[in-house]
Amino acid sequence: MNDEAIAILGGTGDQGLGLALRFAKAGRPVVIGSRKEARAIAAADEVRKAVEGADVVGLENAEATAQAPVVILSVPFEHTASTVKGIRDALAPGQILVSMGVPLATAIGDGPVRTVGVWQGSCAELVASLAPNDVATVSAFQNVAAHRLQDLPHPVECDVLVSGPKEPRQRVMALCELVPGLRAIDGGPLANARIVEEITALLIGLNARYKVPEGLGWRLTGLPD
Ligand SMILES: NC(=O)c1ccc[n+]([C@@H]2O[C@H](COP(=O)([O-])OP(=O)(O)OC[C@H]3O[C@@H](n4cnc5c(N)ncnc54)[C@H](OP(=O)(O)O)[C@@H]3O)[C@@H](O)[C@H]2O)c1
Repeated sequence: MNDEAIAILGGTGDQGLGLALRFAKAGRPVVIGSRKEARAIAAADEVRKAVEGADVVGLENAEATAQAPVVILSVPFEHTASTVKGIRDALAPGQILVSMGVPLATAIGDGPVRTVGVWQGSCAELVASLAPNDVATVSAFQNVAAHRLQDLPHPVECDVLVSGPKEPRQRVMALCELVPGLRAIDGGPLANARIVEEITALLIGLNARYKVPEGLGWRLTGLPD
């Protein structure tokens, strides 16, 4: 396992590919995971085309999980539990699972401007409940728009609230700083993910009302340097 590597499961989709592009551009080794290895390889090729010299490979999800200390889950909320169960045996003590999912009501055929309740409190807490005890779950990146991530020439201009146990939380905060324009905000314990996830549904509604298909970002003001 390369200490610098970042694995992105579902990195074949909009948000995961966006993160893959950004981390590859920052010079970090990226491992794209997919249910189908061929799709992961195709996504890795796409990153290589966009980022000269990118260190990126594509693997099936469980194999990708074993390659990196930080594993980002980038699958729709309704497939989160099955994905975590599918990689559980590939996880090793000390790894960090990053939950980016939002329990949008699209999961039950309703609209994306509302969320559904999750028994555990949030998607991130659902992930934590399924992960082995010696793997930390951190919540991050829910409020960042995929289109902005994929727009490599421009900074992303968004704050990222990061929640979870302290040391892993700080490691994920450091990853945010690899992406121009992203600013990591210390979001405290994992339970705060339930608030952060709700903000995404609000942002999706704002995108529609203000006609910003690329997706709005948001910033906190007044924070000390
Ligand atoms: N899109 C955004 O702007 C945005 C913003 C903030 C947060 N997010 C969050 O980021 C995550 C990914 O969003 P996205 O827009 O990239 O999603 P997406 O494109 O719809 O899907 C991402 C990947 O999930 C995998 N997937 C699809 N169906 C699956 C299933 N039945 N079981 C397991 N995996 C499945 C697919 O990968 P394979 O087919 O290759 O396995 C797919 O490429 C979501 O949790 C979303 O809430 C998205």
